[in-house]
Amino acid sequence: MAEENQAAVSPLASSNVTMDMLVSLCKRRGFVFPSSEIYGGLNGFFDYGPLGSELRRNIRNAWWEDMVHRRDDIVGIDCSIISHPKVWEASGHVGGFSDPMVDCKESKQRYRADQLFFAPVVVAGEKIGYVSVLEDAKMQTEAEEQANSLKRKLAKQGALEPIVLQDYTNAKPDEYALIPSPATGKPGSLTAPRDFNLMFETHVGAMRDESAVAYLRPETAQGMFFNFKNVVDTTRVKLPFGIAQIGRSFRNEITPRNFVFRSREFEQMEMEYFIHPTADWQKEHRAWIDWCKNWLVSIGLPAARLSEYDHPKAKLAFYSRGTTDIMFEYPFGVQELWGIAARGDYDLQQHIKFSGKALDYFEEATKSKVVPHVIEPAVGVDRIFLAVLCSAYYEDVVEGEKRTVLRLHPRLAPVKCGVFPLVKNKPELLAHAEALYKRLRRKWNVFWDVSGAIGRRYRRMDEIGTPFCVTVDFDTIEKDGSVTLRDRDTTQQVRLSEDELVAELSRRIDGV
Ligand code: GLY
Repeated sequence: MAEENQAAVSPLASSNVTMDMLVSLCKRRGFVFPSSEIYGGLNGFFDYGPLGSELRRNIRNAWWEDMVHRRDDIVGIDCSIISHPKVWEASGHVGGFSDPMVDCKESKQRYRADQLFFAPVVVAGEKIGYVSVLEDAKMQTEAEEQANSLKRKLAKQGALEPIVLQDYTNAKPDEYALIPSPATGKPGSLTAPRDFNLMFETHVGAMRDESAVAYLRPETAQGMFFNFKNVVDTTRVKLPFGIAQIGRSFRNEITPRNFVFRSREFEQMEMEYFIHPTADWQKEHRAWIDWCKNWLVSIGLPAARLSEYDHPKAKLAFYSRGTTDIMFEYPFGVQELWGIAARGDYDLQQHIKFSGKALDYFEEATKSKVVPHVIEPAVGVDRIFLAVLCSAYYEDVVEGEKRTVLRLHPRLAPVKCGVFPLVKNKPELLAHAEALYKRLRRKWNVFWDVSGAIGRRYRRMDEIGTPFCVTVDFDTIEKDGSVTLRDRDTTQQVRLSEDELVAELSRRIDGV
């Protein structure tokens, strides 16, 4: 892990950033666009622009370097998105990968029942109706306002009892007709909740019948399980060991929302860490939670915005014996960022059963075969992307001018360094700067800019999170060849020789 880079990150987080500010920056500077925007976009799908794709790539690379390259016990794989449909029967996704859905018959809106909250409104001991709100950081206040408004409308006297919100999956059948639809504000149109399978179906080959049905993977994890034997037989891994993968997954979310936080196509970074069946899984689980948290801090997320949530036993996913989520304080509330699940031997046993193949591990010490258990840290690139932007976004004042600055960790910054000739009408100065630019771009993604006043060029780089800017000026060509290096966060400048500059950038960007 690149602890070396931590000094470059401000300990302060921008906690006042709103989603509107972020979405606007992402569009304005080419981080994220709505997918196929010229056709009106497609809900739940996004395209990453030139800067967004660099930032995502840097997140992926940092994870892969730290999770795979810098460890001796983890190897990587890269599986196809569509696999044999039996995989998803074995994994339990065909039967059980669903969210509870509720329809509003009047507006034709569809909601996730566990994201629709309701409460009875009780005044002086009398139930006078219900309120409903969609899950949101402000939903309690919103529900209380609705309750007060209902009380006023019905001219009820007396104390309003506390509004206790529950999600719609807890509604009793006789309450369905009494709870108002969030779309119309009136009761009587919400259906009972029912399961909606989240997998995207497709057909493989020329046939369109049942025999050709296949699925876009809803998680990358299964690839590690059905390739378990292939990896054991072709590498020299020894228990405990991990198999990691980064790749696209697809879930037909009922209500994609919060920008790239919950989309229908997203990218996962998952690792299955196989441990001996008799190993202390709780200890291993804890160790991975700590690893993941430390990693997030190492790429610039403030520890103060991270917390943990242990899934209650009754609500665990079908494969899990214990799951802890690392939560992040997003502008829309504290939400799951990274799930660390103890999956036992559920998946390997299911694939043994469905494929009839032996997916075991031969232990030299005891000369016996075991089916390992697994700890799985699973995170979405897009969720990290959003958390990174939320943490990095600042508005401050420099030289009397308001600036927007992304204090991105140098390891993640899409552009590492801007290279500026001070003026564009002096061929010798331009040639010197261009040679430096070409030298730097062999190692990093750097940006050449000759247009506008130097202050404006700095601001443009600040806004996209470029941590360093180098200026070639008259002293460079008339004196000793030295250049100025400007730091985005402090705005301080130092003069360095070119070799010193390359060494300094290597240290600050790559930690070496
Ligand atoms: N493999 C766990 C997940 O996709 O969330």
